[in-house]
Amino acid sequence: MIVLGYESSCDETGVALVCTERGLLAHALHSQVAMHEAYGGVVPELASRDHIQRVLPLTDQTLNEAGLTLAQVDVVAYTAGPGLAGALLVGASVAQSVAWALGKPAIPVHHLEGHLLSPLLAEPAPEFPFVALLVSGGHTQLMRVDGVGRYELLGETLDDAAGEAFDKTAKLLGLGYPGGPALSRLAEQGDAQAYALPRPMLHSGDLDFSFSGLKTAVLTQVRKHEADGGVTEARRADLAAATEAAIVDVLASKALKAMRQTGLKQLVVAGGVGANRHLRQRLQTEISKLKGRVFFPPVALCTDNGAMIAFAAAQRLKAGLVDLAQSNSHAFTIR
Ligand code: KG4
Ligand code: ZN
Repeated sequence: MIVLGYESSCDETGVALVCTERGLLAHALHSQVAMHEAYGGVVPELASRDHIQRVLPLTDQTLNEAGLTLAQVDVVAYTAGPGLAGALLVGASVAQSVAWALGKPAIPVHHLEGHLLSPLLAEPAPEFPFVALLVSGGHTQLMRVDGVGRYELLGETLDDAAGEAFDKTAKLLGLGYPGGPALSRLAEQGDAQAYALPRPMLHSGDLDFSFSGLKTAVLTQVRKHEADGGVTEARRADLAAATEAAIVDVLASKALKAMRQTGLKQLVVAGGVGANRHLRQRLQTEISKLKGRVFFPPVALCTDNGAMIAFAAAQRLKAGLVDLAQSNSHAFTIR
């Protein structure tokens, strides 16, 4: 079966074609980062309008790359949520329309399931069961994954997501959007030991996270410096390094705790923060000591993309989890 997938939950328009037997055939992506940069964050209305403009040319591009025509598509999948309502509506409307015009089913996909299964798109792929650390701009979760559709939530953030902590701190330090990569770049020049920032909930005994206090701790330091002559370039770099170290410390410690608690030896990292170099290095080092393995999807598949949505739909189809007879009548829901 050929699945055409759409992702439009935030600031990336993604389109992909996945074959249930042969895997990923082609995918195309347009990032709106440059457009939102001037505003310091995603402007939802601009995001929706841009998705509308990009989605059909990207569909053509993906079909051309795969050497397929629309008529060869068997199923259309789309991100049903969570995400920005207007942005989701674009992908959902286009997917439902294409499916209706083709007389084929349209199936909704949970955005986080897309992230969760995306490491299976890369080589080498993990085998079930594994622990997944889902770290994006909107979510921070640890999950036990026993198979497609068999997910157990082990812990999650009680307030800000890890990506949000990167983004908000970056904003405090006057860095651009998106904050994660910018803060991480500045951190390269800083000394992480220069500030003793908190590691929220590090010893809470459970697998939950909290990041909002970290942002406040950085704000306190920034205010202190503003009162005593300003936040110099060197201090900004030190604060960036200390923030990154604190976030990585908590994420890595809890991920390892989840592995110990479940007895599982494989960890999969998904979501935009999975692109962070320090997090990758730290997990590689610690997990090799445990004789375990850590899997990261390629950076292009870590952040939002259409491939993970088409792929998640293909996996659900293969696992017999989709009732295609019901799919066309599925009114899209925004979660
Ligand atoms: O998964 P994603 O593309 O979108 C959501 O579903 O949220 O994740 C975006 C998040 C943003 O918060 C961004 O700052 C963060 O991932 N991010 C990073 C890095 N690259 C992206 N955070 C830290 N270091 C990075 N290299
Ligand atoms: Zn995402």
